[in-house]
Amino acid sequence: MFEVKTIDRFDLTDFAGDIFKESNTDTPDAILVRSSHVNNELISKRLLVIARAGTGVNTINLNACTANGTAVFNTPGVNANAVKELIIQNLFRCVRPLEGAVEMMENLKAAEGETLQEAAEAKRGDFVGEELYGKTIGILGLGTIGQRLADSCYHMGMQVIGFNRSRKNLRHVQQFETIDEVLSLADFVVVLLPLTDETKGMLSTKSFETMRDNAYLLNFGRGDIVDNAAVISALDHNEIAGYISDFPKAELQDHPNITLLPHLGGNTIEALTHSANTILQNLLDFLEYGTVRRS
Ligand code: MLT
Repeated sequence: MFEVKTIDRFDLTDFAGDIFKESNTDTPDAILVRSSHVNNELISKRLLVIARAGTGVNTINLNACTANGTAVFNTPGVNANAVKELIIQNLFRCVRPLEGAVEMMENLKAAEGETLQEAAEAKRGDFVGEELYGKTIGILGLGTIGQRLADSCYHMGMQVIGFNRSRKNLRHVQQFETIDEVLSLADFVVVLLPLTDETKGMLSTKSFETMRDNAYLLNFGRGDIVDNAAVISALDHNEIAGYISDFPKAELQDHPNITLLPHLGGNTIEALTHSANTILQNLLDFLEYGTVRRS
């Protein structure tokens, strides 16, 4: 039997975040964590396992876990649909000025003798958009999310190109040998890579020079894969059109061509429920049988 220690924030939307940092618990036997960093101090001899509800394990010191004999597992794929749909929502946001049009409608007053529809249609020229159909999306990182995104974009009539070091022969994607080839051809570059020593700061000055001037960069991988100073400079010099990141950083907050999201990728009822069920089942399996049977 295990005693479970939690703090108030132990709920579906941020379960197990910072539990042990904020409580005065003794060293735990198992940690179940979502996005919070796991303190190195907690990786003690007693710690059997860290269960990460989500895909990325960059918040956990894997070398320390290996040295300590602590198992680490995650729930890859549970957020895939949620992240894919949020990316598609943001692709549309790049090409159709819907938010501005809705805001205009909220404030619009028809003139005397004019209907609201007449007044609105007189303004619609301010909100001409473009279509995704025929445009090129470049996907960096073709795991479960990347493949599902490729499928959806292909079916919307987009050209889908991508880079992935290990996975080949994916559906609906023209794969390139180098990231630069993808950067040079894409109208939208979507980052879905994990954060590793190799990918940290990978998209920097030269990458933005390689990208098309009218291209958008969408980061749903990890914030530190993009060099923030370089992306700000690229936007200021019109080397790219915009940057959307699901990983907010203060230095990016005030730029007019940067959109920050509060790490919303996996934030749907379906993904949170799937993630919670999977990680709890896996953790129980691990504690009872010493193996993880479901992913
Ligand atoms: C993931 O790695 O799957 C996500 O970042 C999980 C989260 O939303 O915290």
